[in-house]
This record gives sequence, C-alpha cells and structure tokens, in this order.
Amino acid sequence: MQKFDQAYFDAGIERRGTECVKWDVMAEETGDPEMIPMWVADMDFPSAPAIQAAIGRVAAQGTWGYTRNGQADAQALCSFWERRHGVHLNPGEVLLSPCVVSGMRIAIQALTKPGDAVLIHTPVYGPFHDSVKRSGRRLVESPLAEENGKWQIDFAGMEAAMDREKVKAVLLCSPHNPCGRAWTREELERVLELCRKKNAALISDEIHADFVYPPAVHTSILSLAGEKDAVVMLCAASKTFNIAGLQQSSMVSRSPEMVERLTRQRDDAGITFGNPFALAATRAAYTDCDAWLDGLIAYLAGNRDLVITHAKNWPRVRVTEMEATYLMWLDCRALGLAQDQLLEAIRAAHVYVTDGRFFGSAGDGFIRLNIGCPRPQVEAALRQLDRVLAKG
Ligand SMILES: Cc1ncc(COP(=O)(O)O)c(C=O)c1O
Repeated sequence: MQKFDQAYFDAGIERRGTECVKWDVMAEETGDPEMIPMWVADMDFPSAPAIQAAIGRVAAQGTWGYTRNGQADAQALCSFWERRHGVHLNPGEVLLSPCVVSGMRIAIQALTKPGDAVLIHTPVYGPFHDSVKRSGRRLVESPLAEENGKWQIDFAGMEAAMDREKVKAVLLCSPHNPCGRAWTREELERVLELCRKKNAALISDEIHADFVYPPAVHTSILSLAGEKDAVVMLCAASKTFNIAGLQQSSMVSRSPEMVERLTRQRDDAGITFGNPFALAATRAAYTDCDAWLDGLIAYLAGNRDLVITHAKNWPRVRVTEMEATYLMWLDCRALGLAQDQLLEAIRAAHVYVTDGRFFGSAGDGFIRLNIGCPRPQVEAALRQLDRVLAKG
C-alpha cells in the first residue's frame, strides 16, 4: 500500500508549464524566474492516486458526450460528509453546481431579491464581496473582532447591522478564509439563531471543511439546521483534493423549498454540468482518498508548525492561529510599512503572497501565506521573507 507520508508530500509535483495560475500566470506577470508562489489557494501536491486513475479511465473512453450526474455522485458526497464530519445528508438535498463561487451567486440570487442587504464577516475571501455586489444586492460588512490574534464574530455588532440594514441573507465562511477559524458549534448555533430570529437566509461556504486541525473540528451548519431553515451549504472536493480546475461543487439544503428555489435559479441561468472528468474525479475523491487526505492534514500541520517556529524571528509580525485551511494570516501592521511598500518589498524578496486587501479594507496591513506546498518550498519562502519581516 502506498504511504502518504512526509516523503510523499515533500516530493510535490512540477506544475510549471501546465498553464496553472499559481506558477505560470505569476511567472508571466512578474517576469521573475526565482519568484516562489505562496498565493492562490491550491496546492503543489499530486492529486490522490485514486483520482488520477479515475481520470485516466475517463480519458481512455475516447469519447466524452453528455454525461449524467446520477445518484452515485450525490451518494458519494453524503457518505464522505457522514464519515468525515459526522453529518447525515440525503442525496435529494444535494444539487451540483460548477465552482463554489457560482453556487454562492446562485444561492444569493435564489434566496434574496435585487437591492436586499446581504451580510458578510470581514475580512473575508474577495468573491464574497463581489458576489453580493454583482448580484445587485447591498453589501453589509460585519467586521470580525480580533483578540490576541484570534478572530471572533462580534455578535452584538452583527445583530445591530442585521436590524439596521434589514439584512435578508448572511454569507458565512466556515471555516474562515483568511482568519483560519473553525467556528465552534456554539458560535454556529448563535449565527443560525440570529438568522432565524431576523428571518434571514444563511449561506455557509464550507469549501475548507476538510482542512481542520485537531483539537478543532468542523461542524457543518447542516448538523444544526432543519428542513424549515433557509440554510444552504456550499461544498466541493476541489480544494481538498486539488481538483479545482475541474470546476465542480455542490449546494446542499435540508429544506425542500430551498432545493426547489436553487434548482429553478440554476436552471433559469442555463447552467448545466456533467463534465465526465469532474464527476469521476469527485466520486473517487469522496470514496477512495481518505488515507491521502489524512496524510495531507498531518503534513500541513507540520508546515504550519514550521511557520510558527520560524516567525519567532519576526518580532513585529503576528501569526494568526490557524485552526483550519492551509492559509496563514499574518498581521504585519507593526512593521509600519504602507501596504504597497510591504508587498513590493516581499516581491523584491522573490515571494508572491496574497495582499490582505483582497479580503476587504480590514485586510490592510496583512498578508496571506499559502502553505499547501512541499516543506522545502515553505522553508525557502520563509528564508526569503526574513529580508522583510525579520525587522526588529
Ligand atoms: C472560502 C472560499 N470559497 C470559495 C473558493 C473558490 O471556490 P471555487 O473555485 O470552487 O469557486 C475559495 C478559494 O480559495 C475559498 O477560499
């Protein structure tokens, strides 16, 4: 049996020349052959062998006409979520969508009306902001509160904003990108309770659910919501198994009424799916890749610990506790640099990170570091970052 140990993940995979965004687009944009990519959220590891084999079988078909997405696809997702996250889902509650962001837009449009207010907790993944605005809805920001590097929902602020702005939907990032929180059951109960009380729909993006490090656990909103709740969960195998390029995700709701509204919205937009490569890869991911995933989580925890230890050389940088995701949120405000200066200096040191402002204005002074790559790459990036961040 193949082992998914440190040596396996250390070996990584060469991605240059595959037209991938992380390496090839960055190289083209920067023109710097030494630049180390620690930005866009995918990983520099090979996808699990069972996924490669499944794609190989589809490739060998030699013809790729219209393909059904059947009961087996939804069932594979349900089995995975029950096994990995202890939540029982039914195939009838699962709807396919292209990527998670498209599911987010379908859900916003299905559950709210133009001009309605939609609340997000900032800083948060850029397309949360865009998805609300581009759907013609009103963006309401409820800033997360930070205490000693740990980010919390400001429930009083959230409730006040919901009342003031007459919020009709809350878009939750769970686990949270970029703040690394795996929301606790109690926190999620409070969010759900607020949504029930204020009659707001709740859309929970759980794409990072599988990257949660013990003792934290992932609690799905669907383990709390019932069939009367206007709650939709968005998920995918894409981030977990590094198959985001295949563009398949799911929208899941306990509520038959929500399922119907999502289906109508999706069909009205003429969105179809049934990419045979994506279907086969996703089924394999949900069925035969647990050992690979367990190895990956252990490896990423090692990368996280390495960053935490190394960051002791950076007295003015605060590393946010990462309970979840493989994205580390670094508070660089104490360096006293303007954000453009900070990014320029980091790029001059040949490291490409994500600008905190991608997550909204609350991200000014922060950078996000993607550690989903072989450890030698993390080590090289940390050494290079010393040039900018090790300032006392
Ligand atoms: C919270 C969150 N949602 C959605 C996405 C993107 O998912 P997709 O490519 O399926 O739209 C990301 C990618 O980084 C993310 O972090």
